[in-house]
Amino acid sequence: MSNKITAENLLGMKSRGEKITSLTAYDASFAHILDEAGIEVVLVGDSLGMVLQGESTTLKVSMDDMVYHTTLVSKSCQRAMLVADMPHLSYTSPEQALINASRLLDEAGAEVVKLEGGEDIAHIVDHLTSNSVPVCGHVGLQPQSVEKYGGFKIQGREQEEADQILKDAQALEESGAMMIVLECIPATLATTITAEINIPTIGIGAGVDCDGQVLVVYDLLGISGRSPRMTKNFLADSGNIRDAVADYVDAVKSGGFPTDEHSY
Ligand code: KIV
Repeated sequence: MSNKITAENLLGMKSRGEKITSLTAYDASFAHILDEAGIEVVLVGDSLGMVLQGESTTLKVSMDDMVYHTTLVSKSCQRAMLVADMPHLSYTSPEQALINASRLLDEAGAEVVKLEGGEDIAHIVDHLTSNSVPVCGHVGLQPQSVEKYGGFKIQGREQEEADQILKDAQALEESGAMMIVLECIPATLATTITAEINIPTIGIGAGVDCDGQVLVVYDLLGISGRSPRMTKNFLADSGNIRDAVADYVDAVKSGGFPTDEHSY
């Protein structure tokens, strides 16, 4: 019998208050380390545009890039759920989104696709989930909209913005999303969203109360050339990659990461 992590497993973890761990991976070797360490969700993030391709944003990542890296990662995800990002401009209509999502699922081996956006993309998420495509949402700071924000900025500090982010998360749940990433929002807002919706929230720069946490694996290893507030270099203390990942898993599971130092 398969011991693959399912959406139902993650829902059960939320209901029991057990933290979900997630990290990005872009190749088979890293994915193997994460899978062995017990990471529940491996994300092939379009952050690969920044940490692999050396771009300053994720905007140039293509569908072919995502299919290639997801195929590599899928070779090593024996237990972890494999989520792949839909890149910028790959889901501008429901029809286009379905064609591109099926490339990630059928060609590359992803189990879930992740899209950035809230109420504005609810009709697209609805079309995907109605066609049996499992979807993870992504609200708060949406890196594909960085040009609209004028930089990588915390979202939801103003009440009106915070209300919209909550509505976005609710719209995604109503459209059938099975999980939502909350990126760079005040910890208090993430606490409210996590309590208000029934599907798991996975935070990055969103405080300790999310149902789980995700980091870009190169940030966790301190090799991405950047150290935003929400990240922590776990390699600095552990000295090797396997122990750094194990320390991250322990810290997330015990509620020891993130602390206020990594939150807004
Ligand atoms: O692209 C990515 O790596 C992500 C995570 C940071 C959540 O979306």
